[in-house]
Amino acid sequence: MASLARSMDLERRLNDSLGLTPHLGWSSWNVAQCDAASEKYALETANKFIELGLKDVGYEYVNIDDCWSTRERDESGNLVPDPSKWPNGIKAVVDQIHDMGLKFGLYGCAGELTCASFPGSWGHEIQDAELIASWGVDFWKHDNCFTPCTSEPFPQTCWEGSIDTRPWYGTMRDAILSVKDSKEMLFNLCNWGRNEVWTWGYDYGHSWRIEGDNWGDWESVVRIGAKASEIPEYSGPGGFNDLDMLFVGNGVLTEPQERLHFGLWAIAKSPLVIGADLNALPESSLKILSNKDIIDVNQDPLGIAAGIFQPPNAPGPVRGEIYPYWAGPLSDGVVIGLVSANRAGTLSVNFADVPGLEGGSYNWKELYTGEEGTGESISFNVAENDIAIVKVTTS
Ligand code: GAL
Repeated sequence: MASLARSMDLERRLNDSLGLTPHLGWSSWNVAQCDAASEKYALETANKFIELGLKDVGYEYVNIDDCWSTRERDESGNLVPDPSKWPNGIKAVVDQIHDMGLKFGLYGCAGELTCASFPGSWGHEIQDAELIASWGVDFWKHDNCFTPCTSEPFPQTCWEGSIDTRPWYGTMRDAILSVKDSKEMLFNLCNWGRNEVWTWGYDYGHSWRIEGDNWGDWESVVRIGAKASEIPEYSGPGGFNDLDMLFVGNGVLTEPQERLHFGLWAIAKSPLVIGADLNALPESSLKILSNKDIIDVNQDPLGIAAGIFQPPNAPGPVRGEIYPYWAGPLSDGVVIGLVSANRAGTLSVNFADVPGLEGGSYNWKELYTGEEGTGESISFNVAENDIAIVKVTTS
């Protein structure tokens, strides 16, 4: 299905050569919210990317979320890194991270204040774009708190669905594009899926949040995963549905749930942004996060997200639940996701019923266990809230 978003400005997006595959990285927010927005976390994470082999499998962006600045701008109106969190300022940290072959991301907000009530970019867009570009920032997440609503003053969150969030995302996009040194900056729209952002995000940024936050509970994974299955066609090279930062390695999900969470985000072509403290990452979570075969699926140059398909005799999708059968094209085959939400079960498909495949025999590999086979169908016993991810090779 050709998407509206992709037809609009594909050429411009592709020409900037940025974000052609979903970004891979880490963000401070799910680790310890405001407390993790510091030099200490940024540099420790960058070092851990190298030490744990995460850089080798593609993780690149070290992103600092809300609460990195002081509560007030300085007398020139500039944002100020909180000296208790950034004793050497931000540029010194960005330089070190660049020297390690990694990238650095920062967070801001379209409104008057950020969601945690630090200064937002409202009315300061060009000034902020110039400042962050002068620090060498490679990624900017733009949140949606304290933006215009139906009454004054702007509330922390505007629940009024009719309010169009596009104008302030356009203002920041243009500010970033107008600043000479910011042209290499990824722009992430964090409006929580408002105004069906997936239908227009492509002309504004390189990724856009499709839903409210991932709160680190199983219900969030189900809510966001179910939403992703409704809108896969809006992702493409240069602009991707962002399912939100991961909760893998935080001790809140079971091992099967972590596999399903990571695997679903990967085949849906979401940015994969680790949200755990890398100093305390369980071995089982590290194994999931560094599964190179699954990361390769996420980073496949086609950049097309997997969606759901209904095999003959299978019940249809239920809104708000994760459907068991997923498939998406890859440059050398097809990836199939078999999800067993809520109860363990045997899931089987004939390749002839899978979009992108025809009847016949193919080589396949299950990417978590490494099991391989050849044949016309697959069948897996999938544990409760777990996933099998099968790559079928066609060339
Ligand atoms: C939310 C956003 C989260 C996080 C938080 C910071 O609006 O969705 O991802 O950035 O603000 O306050």
